[in-house]
Amino acid sequence: INWNYSLFYEVDAMKRICIKGGKKLYGEIDVQGAKNSSLPILSAALICESPCVIHNCPDITDVNAAVKILEYLGCGVKREGNTLTVDPRGFKCREVPDALMREMRSSIIFLGAVTAKCGCAFLSLPGGCELGPRPIDIHLSSLRKMGLEIEESHGRLDCFCKDTLLGCEIDLPFPSVGATENIMLAAVRARGNTVIRNAAREPEISDLAQFLNSCGARVFGAGESTVEVEGVKSLSGCEHVVIPDRIAAATYMSAVGACGGKIILNNIEPTHLYSTFPFFEQAGGTIKIKDRSVECEFKNRPKALSTVRTGVYPGFPTDAQPTLMAMTVMGEGTTVFVENIFENRFRQVDELVRLGARIRVQGRVAVVDGVERLTGAAVEAADLRGGAAIAVAGLCADGETSVGHVDYINRGYENFVNNLSRLGADIKTVEGKK
Ligand code: EPZ
Repeated sequence: INWNYSLFYEVDAMKRICIKGGKKLYGEIDVQGAKNSSLPILSAALICESPCVIHNCPDITDVNAAVKILEYLGCGVKREGNTLTVDPRGFKCREVPDALMREMRSSIIFLGAVTAKCGCAFLSLPGGCELGPRPIDIHLSSLRKMGLEIEESHGRLDCFCKDTLLGCEIDLPFPSVGATENIMLAAVRARGNTVIRNAAREPEISDLAQFLNSCGARVFGAGESTVEVEGVKSLSGCEHVVIPDRIAAATYMSAVGACGGKIILNNIEPTHLYSTFPFFEQAGGTIKIKDRSVECEFKNRPKALSTVRTGVYPGFPTDAQPTLMAMTVMGEGTTVFVENIFENRFRQVDELVRLGARIRVQGRVAVVDGVERLTGAAVEAADLRGGAAIAVAGLCADGETSVGHVDYINRGYENFVNNLSRLGADIKTVEGKK
């Protein structure tokens, strides 16, 4: 089957989001399930011997691309709303073709799972993305330590394991989220125990561990810096609810911070957002947590923030940096952003400047001088979170803003336009006119 993905993207790429700015946001929305938890969990499902029922999976392009990879590998996948049922019993293929690998940057997450399933995997390098080169050296060096022989040539990864993967002790030079997940997936059926030191601590790691343990794996310490995995013979299926998307929640909080108003976000996990609340309160917002909801109210123009430094969890998430920046663009005063995770994560800046923002970038530092007003313009999304940031700025710009390359936004946000429209924004998707 030669899936032609470009069709999906071409259609979306021709669409634009049209915004008439200046509306305050009021109302409540349900926050989607976490993209960055759904993807490794879908990959993990193929290791199982029986079907998995995965709830709260957002209907977004990246998840649907992962589903296409699972189907290409022979798994059956059924979607009913936000519930995906993955039946791994038809797994028969160990190769993921280039077209599929390239459609989703994080498709490298299938390396650990396919190898765990059948001891070998034939993938193509996922390639870079809009955030700069996306190296996988930590993934590869870790899996080689577990006995996987990996030949890298012509943009392909041909991976073999003579007998079986061997548990071992792995020290990560950087707490890479994807590498931690790939090692966990490779380790669940390895012979012996695997210890991952300096592991990523993101909530998505803990969610993956919970899914794996529900399937009979033995993963300990997920969410901490040392994760241990005792290899088991096989994994059954399970039923699992994906955690809420903390980045989507932070995105809508930035939107109400930029526009003013009062919104309630339901179905969130407040503990996953603890590093973001202080910035919204410093901006003058009122944050009220009620069980699994948060109420955010902004009565005035946001105040400038103390320096925003992105970091690994539990630090301020890099994925929330672009949209928080969009909130500060019309802030009172100057806010400095330091992007410590990716080397090219200020792609939203040029488009924010087209709307009238005053931002200076020097390497990993961006200085935002708040302005009194923004004026609507035709702008283009260049990556997922940057695209959302430009839309957030358009919500508080005078006049009409038209955002191109909706496909980037649809990779990670479910019902993005509908949610903002429900909150009172004048926003709609139209066919591709500038
Ligand atoms: C995950 O990407 C997320 N994606 C990203 O979200 C998120 O920004 C990132 O973690 C950090 O939190 C998914 O979970 C699908 P990393 P990942 O490995 O795993 C370097 C979004 O918008 N690195 O922790 O790729 C790398 O270059 C996306 O939802 C190596 O050098 O992140 C980067 O600078 C964007 N070698 C840093 O580590 C490696 O082998 C963080 O990467 C791996 C990573």
